[in-house]
Amino acid sequence: MSRGHFITFEGIDGSGKSTQARLLFDHLKQAGKDVILTREPGGSEGAEEIRRLLVEGNPDRWSGETEVLLFTAARRDHLEKTILPALDRGTTVISDRFADSTRVYQGAARGNLRSLVDTLHDIAIATEPDITFVIEMDPIVALKRGLARQSGEDRFEDMGADFQRRLAQGFSELVQSHPDRCKRIDGARAPEAISKDIQAILADTL
Ligand code: TMP
Repeated sequence: MSRGHFITFEGIDGSGKSTQARLLFDHLKQAGKDVILTREPGGSEGAEEIRRLLVEGNPDRWSGETEVLLFTAARRDHLEKTILPALDRGTTVISDRFADSTRVYQGAARGNLRSLVDTLHDIAIATEPDITFVIEMDPIVALKRGLARQSGEDRFEDMGADFQRRLAQGFSELVQSHPDRCKRIDGARAPEAISKDIQAILADTL
């Protein structure tokens, strides 16, 4: 049996990446594929518990360094319990965020923590997606969209407009540094049009 494909979606809060992950999941499911949709932080029982610590409360609740440790712990549990077993049984895995979020949020935007992020990733995760869709969106438009949801999970949105701009810049640099794996997607269009693009790129690539 061949190993499943690992597909991730990345972008700033309010970019529409969760909608796109869901639309791709629905499309592949309808085409009869064996596929799961999961998310980070979260995607396993333990990682969902860690998620609440990270996304709720005051922005200054954790330092950037502590966040790197918590996100990596959540990712390790998600990997062990959900992602790797699915890939091993030939299931396609779509994850709404993965390690690139830590590279950009903690490694670039929160502070200059990229070497800590990379070291922990190499030790505890050592897994990369086959393809990553990075949904790009104006940071201020995305921030308004994200905050309008009033999800109660706004700890990172509450870090403000400058933080959102640094994130947008960080994702743009991420695409440039991984041109084969990361596909830049213009998020300022109708969701259905974006989804068609993603389906076409996927069919060409995998
Ligand atoms: P979500 O809103 O896409 O579910 O993500 C929750 C928040 O966690 C979001 O503001 C981005 C942030 N985050 C990080 O800062 N680092 C990470 O590694 C991940 C996975 C998410």
